[in-house]
Amino acid sequence: MMDWTDRHCRYFMRLLSPNAKLFTEMITAQALKFGNAEKLLQYDSTEHPVALQLGGCDPELMVPAAKVAATKGYDEININVGCPSDRVRQGQFGACLMSKPNLVANCVESIRSAVNIPVTIKTRIGIDDNDNYAFLRTFVQANISAGCSTFIVHARKAILQGLSPKENRTIPPLMYERVYTLKKEFPDLEIIINGGIKTIEQCRQHLEIVDGVMIGRQAYRNPWLLTELEANFCQPDWRPNRLEIVEKMVPYIERNLNTGALLKHMVRPMLGLFSGQPGARAWRRSLSENAYKKDAGINVLYEALGKLSAVA
Ligand SMILES: Cc1cc2nc3c(=O)[nH]c(=O)nc-3n(C[C@H](O)[C@H](O)[C@H](O)COP(=O)(O)O)c2cc1C
Repeated sequence: MMDWTDRHCRYFMRLLSPNAKLFTEMITAQALKFGNAEKLLQYDSTEHPVALQLGGCDPELMVPAAKVAATKGYDEININVGCPSDRVRQGQFGACLMSKPNLVANCVESIRSAVNIPVTIKTRIGIDDNDNYAFLRTFVQANISAGCSTFIVHARKAILQGLSPKENRTIPPLMYERVYTLKKEFPDLEIIINGGIKTIEQCRQHLEIVDGVMIGRQAYRNPWLLTELEANFCQPDWRPNRLEIVEKMVPYIERNLNTGALLKHMVRPMLGLFSGQPGARAWRRSLSENAYKKDAGINVLYEALGKLSAVA
């Protein structure tokens, strides 16, 4: 998620769930060509399995981007066919690509022949008035032919004009049935469902039909959910505690402060760590008031812990 799942956030989330697959923010193929690819692709070795989400539709840019990502050790290339923002639409990628299945298929094919890691697609169920199952099916089928066998489907359509990206995550209704139909028609595909999933029970229900769930906003609103997912679906004995997680973040934060990273970026994903617990508000407030100050250091974290225990 843009402005969320940067490397610091992913490091933190990996501590919460050793088995979840983590995704980078969308990084455009163009940014990798013309920007600081080294910095954009930086990640910690503990983050595996980690997928690089690429934005773009031009194989001439997508293939070199995927190659460098594969060289860096990313586990998967995921193509963004879900982002509805104006900027992305003007660049002819993101959700508008649903109406160009062959263009996406061409990218998939070209990337697959250039790298040895899986190439997957994240898509919506439709765009604008093209929101029937046949439209989704046509898109998916073209990409099956190109060799894509994993589709992450955000179960609402995108409205490309008139709604902001934020509204596009709430206003178009969720239609999980559409995703279920896809899985039923193509049982050999790996279908991951996404959109509005917040609880273990919801995950359980979806997993009766599809192969995986992707959690977006709830992962930063209530990161502790990741520990519950790990315990329910991967390791029944997984019982970390919140203070231990903070302790594990300390050496990471210190290391990165020393190389110029800013505290505010590293603690941001941790703001919701105590969500629902006594002292959660004091923790959040202390961190957000102090981590943004110039030269903020690790003591800010200890102060926030102090505030937490004073209330808890
Ligand atoms: C702040 C923010 C940034 C996002 N950035 C991306 C992105 O870079 N790539 C992407 O595929 N989806 C992105 N999304 C969409 C989410 O991946 C997800 O599809 C959507 O939020 C619905 O899932 P949820 O209800 O679990 O949040 C973003 C969502 C949010 C809230």
